[in-house]
Amino acid sequence: MKNLEQALIARSRAYTPYSNFKVGAAILLKDGTYIHGANVENASLGLSNCAERSALFSLYSQGYKKEDIVSMTIVANDHGPVSPCGACRQVMHELMPKDAKVILANTKGEIKEMTTDSLLPYAFVLDEKPKDES
Ligand code: THU
Repeated sequence: MKNLEQALIARSRAYTPYSNFKVGAAILLKDGTYIHGANVENASLGLSNCAERSALFSLYSQGYKKEDIVSMTIVANDHGPVSPCGACRQVMHELMPKDAKVILANTKGEIKEMTTDSLLPYAFVLDEKPKDES
């Protein structure tokens, strides 16, 4: 499966001297392009960036937008298909189409398919909130 191959390439670039848990994400665009992301850690541990957010921030930085996205495939060496963290689910919900396919995988090739909306039901969104009077 091309999506998984691409996510494994992304994963091979992870920088994980602290956790040694490597994660790769590959976003497929409508024009066939893949955008890669890997987790990049830091000695100041809170500054580490997950693979999913690396991929999405790279995509937007390169001038693409949510309408260009078909799917995101995420892979790690986990017991089952990798489960994205809560912070990534929030970012994915805002920066990807609600019905975009999210393919969760592990290095054994086990796969679970979800959408950004099913990964974060009842998500927080800032638009159309009632405003307090100042
Ligand atoms: N990590 C990801 O890249 N994606 C996730 O969804 C979960 C966690 C990374 C962050 C850190 O580099 C390592 O996995 C261990 O938490």
